[in-house]
Amino acid sequence: MTAATSTMPTPAPLHVEGLSLRFGGIHVLEGLDAVFEPGRITGLIGPNGAGKTSFFNCLTGLYLPQEGRIRLGGTAVGHLPPNRRAMLGFARSFQHVALCPELSCVENVMAGMQRHARAGWLSAFLPFPAANAEREAHRELARQALERVGAGKAADALPAELPPGMLRLVEIARAIVGKPQVLLLDEPAAGLNSAETAELAAVLLRLRQPDLVLLVVEHDMDLIMGICDTIHVLSAGRMLAHGTPADIRANPEVVRVYLGDEDV
Ligand SMILES: Nc1ncnc2c1ncn2[C@@H]1O[C@H](COP(=O)(O)OP(=O)(O)O)[C@@H](O)[C@H]1O
Ligand SMILES: [Mg+2]
Repeated sequence: MTAATSTMPTPAPLHVEGLSLRFGGIHVLEGLDAVFEPGRITGLIGPNGAGKTSFFNCLTGLYLPQEGRIRLGGTAVGHLPPNRRAMLGFARSFQHVALCPELSCVENVMAGMQRHARAGWLSAFLPFPAANAEREAHRELARQALERVGAGKAADALPAELPPGMLRLVEIARAIVGKPQVLLLDEPAAGLNSAETAELAAVLLRLRQPDLVLLVVEHDMDLIMGICDTIHVLSAGRMLAHGTPADIRANPEVVRVYLGDEDV
């Protein structure tokens, strides 16, 4: 059994209660309540500046909200730093692709195995056999994650050698390689052409699993409406609505603040 398969996550919903985030006088999030169920693809939509990325930053511990609670199943996580949340199974991709330019794609994806690493940091520099074996096991899992998102052929390339669509897939591979319980994807279709977006949609549908809370922030409404089981709408830091894609399309308030310009 490999390190990655030794932790068997149990399905746990992600609960957010009364989350408020302020920067100086700016109210970015205001009393946000939501429950995100595992086994579904949940879309998070809303105008630019609504607070979607800030919300992801609160979930992963990059931002510390002034008020509110975040719970994964029975485990309170709101007080934990980002690395502890990563250990618990929170993973994300970034709105602006954030891969290390000096590392090959497979090495970038290996960084996502950190939560399963047994060998200490010192062994990264010393030829301990156990550390070497772990590194090779992680390299193999990273290759498998790249295959899973359809980016297997990018494994040995440097990020600068690849088109945007492929870089997005590599970021997703890095996020899934550690078998997360909560996966947050921030605008994964940004900068992709229509063929790349169609490929991404197929990848996201394949990621849906009974034990995974999968949240996708996206502006591409065809993508969101096409793949999501549930959609939450954020507007000016508040949850405006949530429901099925059909509910959201039919919600006059959502159409007014966000979908009005869309061809829906
Ligand atoms: N670190 C920060 N300092 C100050 N203001 C911030 C910071 N991060 C986000 N904001 C503000 O929070 C609001 C929401 O931003 P963001 O979460 O990026 O929105 P979205 O992802 O929905 O477009 C914006 O007004 C933004 O300027
Ligand atoms: Mg954003």
